[in-house]
Amino acid sequence: MFKRIPGTKDILPAEVTIWQEIEKISRGIFSLYNYQEIRPPLVEDAKLFNRSLGQTAEIVQKQMFLIQNKEELYALRPEATASVVRSYIENSLDKTNSFLKVYYIGPMFRLERPQKGRYRQFHHVGCEVLGSSDACLDVEVISLAAKLLDNFSVSGYKININSLGCAKDKEKLQKNLREALKNSADKLCVDCQNRLKTNVLRILDCKHESCKKIVDSLKLEHQHLCPECLDHFNSVLNGLDLLGIEYKINYSLVRGLDYYTRTVFEITHPELGSQDAIGAGGRYNNLVQELGGPDTGAIGFAFGLERVLLVSKLSQEKKNENDLVFLITLGDLAKIRGMGILADLRKYGIPADTDYENKSLKGCMRKANDLNARLVLILGENELKNNVITVKNMLSGEQKEVNLSQLTKEIKC
Ligand code: HAM
Repeated sequence: MFKRIPGTKDILPAEVTIWQEIEKISRGIFSLYNYQEIRPPLVEDAKLFNRSLGQTAEIVQKQMFLIQNKEELYALRPEATASVVRSYIENSLDKTNSFLKVYYIGPMFRLERPQKGRYRQFHHVGCEVLGSSDACLDVEVISLAAKLLDNFSVSGYKININSLGCAKDKEKLQKNLREALKNSADKLCVDCQNRLKTNVLRILDCKHESCKKIVDSLKLEHQHLCPECLDHFNSVLNGLDLLGIEYKINYSLVRGLDYYTRTVFEITHPELGSQDAIGAGGRYNNLVQELGGPDTGAIGFAFGLERVLLVSKLSQEKKNENDLVFLITLGDLAKIRGMGILADLRKYGIPADTDYENKSLKGCMRKANDLNARLVLILGENELKNNVITVKNMLSGEQKEVNLSQLTKEIKC
C-alpha cells in the first residue's frame, strides 16, 4: 500500500470546507485593499531561489525540492516572493503598471524535518506589493495581515517588528556583530560559529540558550540604521500607532532570507509551541533590481495556512450550509424519471443528488441525513402515476405532495 510522503497531508472532504472558507475570506479582504490574484508556477529554475534567498539561507542549503532535468535544475517553489518578482520582470509588468499589488494562495515545498506545524508541503496566503518604498505602504501591509488574522478568527497573536536598514546598514550591522561576538565565539553553538563567517545575522535568531544569552547581552538597538532608514522605521511605527495596531520592536528579528531590507516583521502565536510563527514578511527593496528589473521598493508577507488553522476559531467542521436536495426513487421507472428531475433542479441552480448504491428507503433517509440535506424528495410508483412527488423538509419533518410541474418553483427558496 502506498503512503503519502512524510510532511505532506491529504486535505480530506470533511476538512476542505474550512480551507475554502479561509480562501474565501482571504480573497474578500485582499480585494477590499485592491490586491489582484497572481498564480505563478509551482516549479521554477532553482537558481531563482539561490539568487533571491541567498546561498547561505537554510532553505537553499538544505530544504529545496530539486528536480534535475537534463542540464537544468528546477525547484519546487519554497516560497512565492521570488516567483512574483521574476514574473513582474519577465512579463514587463513594471512597464505597464509599475505599481503592483498582488496576492497568492497555494502550496509551497520545503524539505524540512516534519513536526507539528512544520510540513514539507504547506500552504501560503501571501501578498507582494512592488513599486514603492513609502512607509505608509508598510503600514497598509502590516494592517492587512492583522485584518486577515482577525477575519480568520485568530486572536492572541503578537506582531514583532524590526528594521534591518538599507544594504549599507545591513553591512554595518553584520560588521558590528562580528566585532561584538569576536570574543564569545567559543561559547556559541557549532552552527553559529560557522554563521559568524557565513551569515552572522542568523546568530540573532538562533534558538540555542547559550547563543540567546550572548545575543541578549549585546543590548542591540538601531545603531546600524542611517537617518533615512531610521526615519522610515519611525514613520511605520507612527502609522501602526495611529491605526491602533499593537506591535513589539524586536531588535534581534532578522529573518532568514537575504532579500530583506528595512522593515521586517513576524507574527507569532503562543499556542503554537516551537513553530510559533504564523506569518512573516518585510521589505525587499533591492531584489527587483538584483533579478534584472528596475530599482524599486517592494514589500510583502505570507501566512502559513496550516499554522493559521491550528489557532483559528473558525469551526473546524464548518457544516456545509447545505442547500442540498436529496432525491429518493423507488423502482426502475422512477429512477430513470429521477434523472430528469435532478437535471431540472440543477438547471435552476438547486444543488441536488440521489442514491447510486441501491440503498433501501431507510438507508437513503440516513444518507440524506448524513449529507445534511435540506429537503428529501420521494418518487415512487404512486407518485409517478399521479404526476406528483413527496417533498419532506428535513428540519421541520413536514411532508407534502407537490405537482411535478411545480416542483422547482415550489422548492427554490
Ligand atoms: P517564511 O517566514 O519563510 O517567509 O514563511 C512564511 C510563513 O510560512 C511562516 O511564518 C510559517 O507560518 C509558514 N511556514 C514556513 N515554513 C513552513 C513549513 N515547513 N510548514 C508549515 N508552515 C511553514 C516567506 O516565505 C516569505 N516569502 C514571506 C514574504 C513575502 N516576505 C515578503 N513577502
